[in-house]
Amino acid sequence: MAERPKILVTQKVPDPAYPLLEAIGDVEANMEEGVIWPYEELLRRGPGHDYIYSLLTDNIDARFLEAGAASTPRLKMVANMAVGFNNIDVDAATRLGIAVSNTPGVLSDTTADLAFALLMATARRIPEAERFLRAGKYKGWGPLLFCGAEVHGSTLGLIGAGRIGKIVSKRASGFDMKVIYYDVNRMPAEDEEKNHMTYMSMEEVLQQSDFVSIHTPYMPSTHHLIGEREFHLMKPTAILINTARGPIVDEKALVNALQTKTIAGAGLDVFENEPAVEPELLTMENVVLLPHIASASLGTRTLMATMASDNIVAHFHGQRPPNIVNPEVLG
Ligand code: DGY
Repeated sequence: MAERPKILVTQKVPDPAYPLLEAIGDVEANMEEGVIWPYEELLRRGPGHDYIYSLLTDNIDARFLEAGAASTPRLKMVANMAVGFNNIDVDAATRLGIAVSNTPGVLSDTTADLAFALLMATARRIPEAERFLRAGKYKGWGPLLFCGAEVHGSTLGLIGAGRIGKIVSKRASGFDMKVIYYDVNRMPAEDEEKNHMTYMSMEEVLQQSDFVSIHTPYMPSTHHLIGEREFHLMKPTAILINTARGPIVDEKALVNALQTKTIAGAGLDVFENEPAVEPELLTMENVVLLPHIASASLGTRTLMATMASDNIVAHFHGQRPPNIVNPEVLG
């Protein structure tokens, strides 16, 4: 019988993930909700495990992977409970023969829901209006009270039209929005038609959109994809929505664009140096800020959590992990 593998779960995750792991191995887990191990602690605890069940807050860099590869038992796989895996040095993992998996698909609808909620909240100034009311400042209905931007009938520009972008487009169709998109991979004409999405260059998308919503993965080629030049292409009335990854936007350039009224507002679920936020953003009323909760419904987080476990279990049984991102390590 195969030896029971050692599995490390780096943060508290939804309960159904654990029995799946416990059925095959010995699980060591950080059970303190909301506690993120600092890098040095992760590096101290990681080696000596066959499997690491990681979160996007874990910096799984080459040093960590090399330490895991040199330990007994040898690190075999990192299963990330997130669709994004920019927290993992996949090249180093591949070089060391360590498998990496993610959790695509199951969070797309929930993330699209929140992108749309953020769009609505920013356009219609909902958090700002609520703060006003709670502060006891509401003295009666006013014709100019909290007039915001029109959502229905406006133009939504998607930067990135993968799984999540397409669902955001579907949400937008309920608001009679015109959807234009830019993606490095243009979809076939029949898909554009089916999704009611019109392809344009990135410049055209930025110039024509009332709302620009980002849905690309973060990688070297998307670092600061939206910066000073791009803000100047946008309409002064435009609102930027980011539920993808913070460093896709140059956050200092964003602050400047908002201060100089180059654009009108921003709805952000992610930040360049998360959990830090550019201090000026915290003082701006035309910005809605959320703590990276786009996939945070209990149902979706449970699906993500069990999916990460399933990937480990499959690898343990000698099967192809269903969501492996570097299949070349399987030989
Ligand atoms: C992801 O999965 O990459 C999201 O950012 C968190 O759900």
